[in-house]
Amino acid sequence: MRRPVIAGNWKMYKTAAETRDFFRAFQPLVAGSNHCDIIVAPPFTALAAAVESARGSAIGIAGQNLHWASEGAFTGEISARMLVEAGCRGVVIGHSERRQYFGETDEGVNRKTKAALAAGLTPIVCVGETLAEREGQLTHTVLQHQFEGAFAALTPAEFSRILLAYEPVWAIGTGRTATPEMAAEAHRYLRDRAAAQFASEQASALRILYGGSVKPDNIKGLMAQDGIDGALVGGASLDPKSFAAIVNF
Ligand code: 13P
Repeated sequence: MRRPVIAGNWKMYKTAAETRDFFRAFQPLVAGSNHCDIIVAPPFTALAAAVESARGSAIGIAGQNLHWASEGAFTGEISARMLVEAGCRGVVIGHSERRQYFGETDEGVNRKTKAALAAGLTPIVCVGETLAEREGQLTHTVLQHQFEGAFAALTPAEFSRILLAYEPVWAIGTGRTATPEMAAEAHRYLRDRAAAQFASEQASALRILYGGSVKPDNIKGLMAQDGIDGALVGGASLDPKSFAAIVNF
């Protein structure tokens, strides 16, 4: 049985004060929600406020990015050890916005994933095709490259600590969700890749989250699909009521 995971990726939204306000409203709404893991990934400057607010609850806090080096002359970057010290349990890696706007490559995703694992963080690794790739029948090819690139040279034990997020780029922030069937098909393909690169044991335990315009009114249909184990939520995770409604699908 794979335990569901509902994760919120706040992107570049919310100050520390706004983060405290969010948790004050959100926590009572999910106080009895023991059916899934809840993760919130705020911006770096709000991590301390989020960790402090979530203390004593089951809500895990995650970073949205990291550098693969443990330290060094990398202006503007944050290491895995810094995230751990800030109280993070996980980190989002390879989000399509980072691939699209900040030159993130599969090789970089691989290095970051290894650095996160070495520091004891749960990597939430994102993959997904663009609209042009989907329309060009390249979805599987793209997912295969991203999967193999991200998880190159990982041991099965390391891979078993990964959360994988399938986020079709055309569904992110567009209000255009993949149908549950489309998402489930991509998840099946990714699970097959996990079986091929690792083993059926790792594949069947792998939790794959869907991301892309997840809202309170479509989460139930998505979660009803066999291979959809959770959601990575952008816009709808910014509001305590809508994120709680998604958690309590
Ligand atoms: P939206 O839910 O706003 O479409 O964003 C999805 C996403 O990118 C989560 O990482």
